Amino acid sequence: MKATVLGAAGGIGQSLSLLLKINCHLISELSLYDVVNSHGVGADLSHISTNTSISSYLPENDGLQKALCGADFVIIPAGIPRKPGMTRDDLFSFNAKIIASLAEGVARYCPGAFVLVISNPVNSTVPVFAETLKKFGVFNARKLFGVTTLDIVRAKTFIADLTNKKPQSFRVPVIGGHSGATIVPLFSVGAPEAYSSLSYETKSALIHRVQYGGDEVVEAKDGKGSATLSMAYAAYALVNQILTAVTSGLDNEVVSYIYLDDSIKGASELKSKINGLDYFAIPVKLGKEGIEIIDSQILDRIDQAEGDMLEEAIEKLQGDISKGVSFIRGQ
Ligand code: NAD
Ligand code: LMR
Repeated sequence: MKATVLGAAGGIGQSLSLLLKINCHLISELSLYDVVNSHGVGADLSHISTNTSISSYLPENDGLQKALCGADFVIIPAGIPRKPGMTRDDLFSFNAKIIASLAEGVARYCPGAFVLVISNPVNSTVPVFAETLKKFGVFNARKLFGVTTLDIVRAKTFIADLTNKKPQSFRVPVIGGHSGATIVPLFSVGAPEAYSSLSYETKSALIHRVQYGGDEVVEAKDGKGSATLSMAYAAYALVNQILTAVTSGLDNEVVSYIYLDDSIKGASELKSKINGLDYFAIPVKLGKEGIEIIDSQILDRIDQAEGDMLEEAIEKLQGDISKGVSFIRGQ
């Protein structure tokens, strides 16, 4: 497998590339692309004694084309991060342009690749990416993943902290999108016993912490960016799960923000429950060709408070999705 990281010299890009270089024996070539310093990061990583080979590219000399040609996986943390006081949506006008241009590269040079979009605001950048691929006639909804895994990582960590349990003992699905009220953690589904042992106030604080965990890091970094190390860990975990499913065909469930294409089993059923939204973060089953089944039934198992959060998320997501779609369709 060839994997390409776009934005490889950034905070997430460097840490993620390190994790992929040292841990992913399924990746034979790791290709690094950035508008700055990709050769420096590439030289550094290339000294690590694992079997994954490293190549690095800048925009000049057809760098994007070379980075993407033959790629099976493309992981995208390219773009600017937040500073204190900003919302993810404030990043849209800048990052949407970057995402559209990188999507064009994927459409031209590796249209069959699995793509994981990390750049914020994910609720809108994933529609930008999908609409660009559609324009080129190469969109495959089964292979496009908006990365919301950090919300799950946080949900597991925070409930483990509160209940003195190990984070690995929980599988908390976090559905909806990736910003504030669109982040809907389903503790009643993924950690029923531990969650029910908490008081109403502690439950509310826990949910709020998952929804606004990004702000915690942005404020602590005080103008020097947002989550990079935890994000790299989360993206690495998702890449690994998808790689395993794709190479071994083993059923593997992940949660990701995806396009609900009617051809995917469970998509229409889910859309009928979420006011017809085209994009949503939801547990999916993966196979060799990507997303095979969408777990729409999870919504039948949520509690009343989660149902109320879902209503709010749906309303907000509608606007975020339209923003991404019209950014490309309006061009
Ligand atoms: P960063 O500034 O450290 O790195 C971004 C990198 O992108 C830089 O190296 C920059 O040179 C590069 N870049 C800019 N334009 C590019 C282009 N056209 N092609 C290739 N590379 C380009 O930022 P970061 O902390 O790594 O965050 C990156 C993005 O990830 C931000 O938008 C941030 O909000 C987002 N993020 C998402 C999640 C999530 O859960 N999905 C979590 C954390 C951060
Ligand atoms: C996060 O959740 O940490 C990321 O989306 C970065 C951010 O801006 O909060």
